[in-house]
Amino acid sequence: MILFRKRKDLRKWLDAQQEKAKPVGFVPTMGALHQGHLSLIDASKKGNPITVCSIFVNPAQFNDPGDYERYPITIEKDIEMLEESGCDLLFLPSIKEIYPEVVLKARHYELGFLETVLEGKFRPGHFQGVCMVVQRLLDIVQPDNLYLGQKDYQQCMVIEKLIALRGLKDKIKVNICPVFREKDGLAMSSRNIRLNTDEREKATTIFKSLLFIKNNLQQGNIERLKLQAASMLLQNGFRPDYVEIADVNDLSAVTEWDGRQKLVALVAAFLNEVRLIDNMLMN
Ligand code: PAJ
Repeated sequence: MILFRKRKDLRKWLDAQQEKAKPVGFVPTMGALHQGHLSLIDASKKGNPITVCSIFVNPAQFNDPGDYERYPITIEKDIEMLEESGCDLLFLPSIKEIYPEVVLKARHYELGFLETVLEGKFRPGHFQGVCMVVQRLLDIVQPDNLYLGQKDYQQCMVIEKLIALRGLKDKIKVNICPVFREKDGLAMSSRNIRLNTDEREKATTIFKSLLFIKNNLQQGNIERLKLQAASMLLQNGFRPDYVEIADVNDLSAVTEWDGRQKLVALVAAFLNEVRLIDNMLMN
């Protein structure tokens, strides 16, 4: 695996490959890698002769400065894992490389309704920060295929919207990979490292609450299901930001289900200091 810290060096190398390197698959990450990230690398390797991974903990997307400071950094282990996975190229830029003063002028992305609900509502500015870094990374890497995890359901929708807003829909195909889970159902996340033994045991409640919704979903009013799932979380020491059942296409909340509309259940909740998110397609 080749490691580049400078965008110019990365571009020079990729340009020199010309058609040999086409298509290019890209997996953007913030590091502290786990099997979930590696499943995206695998998916990219299957469809592309060159797979690029980036590791950049993006300050612009952290609405809580403490969360940014505590974000786990395990770069040596990450590099080993990427080597083993067969990733071809790692882009490991500095903050200055991604945000030179010229591009620092924050722009506003018209994300509309998508930014007013769920993660958008509870983490103000988060998706603007995600768009800022992803736009920059896409400009640098110029991938043909982009690999994202369904683990961050709303983020996938935001990035698809960014790609549409930038007129890149014909150039970049978004591939969404399923949520990769631990044996007990806990969705893999870089933040799981921060859970102590007791918290780790309780953390699986998020998965159980989603499964509870899925198994008990019936046509008609579904408000009670959300309350029951939230109460499961509360009983296990979580402080939920939201438990929502929403339309898969636009994330509008659904209260009455006609039995046909495609739904996704989404949860975000704090276990002490650690905020975890997860989601599950219902039908
Ligand atoms: P990060 O949290 O490191 O995640 C990088 C990618 O891995 C995202 O597309 C995420 O959805 C995916 N991922 C995380 N956990 C997963 C799991 N358990 N199963 C499958 N995929 C999983 O998401 C970000 O970084 C950042 O916001 C980023 C897009 C890199 C922009 O800074």
